[in-house]
Amino acid sequence: MACTRRTKTLVSTCVILSGMTNIVCLLYVGWVTNYIANVYIKVPMPVPAKKLEGDRKGETLRIIERLDRLENVVNQHIQESPLKGDDNQLDRSFSDSSLFNHWGQDMGPESRRVALKMFQYYGYNGYLSDRLSMDRPIPDYRPEGCKNMSYPSNLPQVSIVFIFVNEALSVIVRSIHSAMNRTPRHLLKEIILVDDNSNNDELKEKLQDFVKETNSKQPGFIKMVRHSKQEGLIRSRVSGWRAASAPVVALFDAHVEFNTGWAEPILQRIKEDRTRIVSPSFDNIKYDTFEIEEYPLSAQGFDWELWCRYLNPPKSWWNLNNSSAPIRSPALIGCFVVDREYFAEIGLLDEGMEIYGGENVELGVRVWQCGGSVEVLPCARIAHIERAHKPYTEDLTAHVRRNALRVAEVWMDEFKSHVYMAWNIPQEDSGIDIGDIAERKALRKKLQCKTFRWYLVNIYPEMRMYTDTIAYGVLRNSLKTDLCLDQGPDTDNIPILYLCHGMTPQNVYYTSTQQLFVGVLSPTIDDDDNKCLVDVNGRPRLIECSYAVAKRMKLHWRFTQGGSIQNTKSKRCLELLENNDNEFGYQLTLQKCTGQNWTITNMLSLWSTLVS
Ligand SMILES: *[C@@H]1O[C@H](CO)[C@@H](O)[C@H](O)[C@H]1NC(C)=O
Ligand SMILES: *[C@@H]1O[C@H](CO)[C@@H](O)[C@H](O)[C@H]1NC(C)=O
Ligand SMILES: *[C@@H]1O[C@H](CO)[C@@H](O)[C@H](O)[C@H]1NC(C)=O
Ligand SMILES: *[C@@H]1O[C@H](CO)[C@@H](O)[C@H](O)[C@H]1NC(C)=O
Repeated sequence: MACTRRTKTLVSTCVILSGMTNIVCLLYVGWVTNYIANVYIKVPMPVPAKKLEGDRKGETLRIIERLDRLENVVNQHIQESPLKGDDNQLDRSFSDSSLFNHWGQDMGPESRRVALKMFQYYGYNGYLSDRLSMDRPIPDYRPEGCKNMSYPSNLPQVSIVFIFVNEALSVIVRSIHSAMNRTPRHLLKEIILVDDNSNNDELKEKLQDFVKETNSKQPGFIKMVRHSKQEGLIRSRVSGWRAASAPVVALFDAHVEFNTGWAEPILQRIKEDRTRIVSPSFDNIKYDTFEIEEYPLSAQGFDWELWCRYLNPPKSWWNLNNSSAPIRSPALIGCFVVDREYFAEIGLLDEGMEIYGGENVELGVRVWQCGGSVEVLPCARIAHIERAHKPYTEDLTAHVRRNALRVAEVWMDEFKSHVYMAWNIPQEDSGIDIGDIAERKALRKKLQCKTFRWYLVNIYPEMRMYTDTIAYGVLRNSLKTDLCLDQGPDTDNIPILYLCHGMTPQNVYYTSTQQLFVGVLSPTIDDDDNKCLVDVNGRPRLIECSYAVAKRMKLHWRFTQGGSIQNTKSKRCLELLENNDNEFGYQLTLQKCTGQNWTITNMLSLWSTLVS
């Protein structure tokens, strides 16, 4: 799952790799973001970035250029994915590991070996964690205004739920200690640990001993829930909620550290209005040094594939000029706090979803559409480890896609088309089994929820709408159907032909206004604009659509399925030109139309009505 944090020049992409909410955040400059969710998440699969490695020539080289940074990341994660006792492999990745970039250079080889092994297992520096205080202080990054606030004494109590699978014991214990140290005693009713069937021995007896010892001082304070089989993040949260008895429940990962005063502002907001679901603001615990890195204040949203992303807070919030004011948020990215009974009334989480992914989007959309609200509080801060990688790599894209389609079908009305478009799959007979959604549809009816259009207009106005799209998919020329139109290297905006792989660089969208977008569907108005195919002095180019429109460039194309693609102004056609210097034997060109034909994978019904 990709949560994208944007500032002007830097982008941090958060990829949740598997199982639990392990958000891996990486810093890049701009464009790389768009690839991460689609390419990087498929690490165990042969992704083009990897496949290209051995074969450096022609167009391939240019793609490598484009994917270069990404490739480094992918390779690093491939190297650092868990090893099953293969010491040779350990040796090879030893010197390259990102673990030692900022930490441990002066350690002896044996310690480094142990540290690396733990890093590969946990995705963070478990070796260092074992050596840090369970009660360490962390910097107070709350905005100024938060520090002097007073709260009523009769706030509701909270149960804190930690869910985990194969987490380092010291990390779990530090999460618990920080919760106990930084939550006023009278407000913290209990802590609930949900073990989603870890197979790590440390989490059996040793954790049990810790629980026993804590409970000997405070009987029943820590409750333990163990799953006898792996249920995934979604059902783990619900298990924790079931075990909770305080009026408010906080659902968290077990690799966090609570900051001073985190609980009071949240409990006050929920006490004022029980239909508010509240997220703290997140800071980062660096996976290698365990230093706390301050993150800017953000709202939490999603793109059209329903991957989560960080958003700039809404204008209305900036206008308040009050950095301690609550930030309205379209959705949630991970951890949240909720009134225990309200959570049941609103329908918990969709337990028909698998493993993880999309459940926080579903919750956010559902709460808003059904009369509640979601907000992020700047005064409640929690630091969270963004892992370098997840212990068990598994291709989760299929689960995320399936879950996204459930959300689309139940909650998004006519806008469900956008989710299918973003995933580049047909809307009819997609061949994807999304399970039974009758219960969720009944819930929506029972709660008399508003439409998704209402939600987009009023709650998530930053989200781009694509109601004028009439066809989408990959674009192939009948002369050579194993090649697809591809956005090519991002640096020079020249579209190319490339072997069809169907990932986002080959997504094409054709609109009723005769524009052709190539590449990822830009999710929000704060993101880079879509790239439009433009005839620039007889050459095909990809230019930001809004710029091309403003400059009255030649960006309109006549296209019918199985026919030519002809620029409406220049009358030139997009065609293939035989070129033996080119790796694939053809190059893309604009020329006098010779009757070449193109097909795009998916047509929307609107297209046929326009054509006829
Ligand atoms: C904080 O509150 C106290 C008492 O309410 C007050 O005396 C003090 O001036 C306040 N400090 C700031 C920085 O506002
Ligand atoms: C915003 O608030 C700060 C103090 O909190 C003040 O100095 C500044 O003038 C305010 N800006 C505007 C535009 O109101
Ligand atoms: C800023 O927001 C906080 C939290 O809502 C509120 O308590 C405080 O009064 C606000 N400050 C100003 C100057 O409006
Ligand atoms: C393109 O399609 C037209 C009409 O179906 C057909 O007559 C023509 O031969 C096709 N051109 C090519 C190059 O396949």
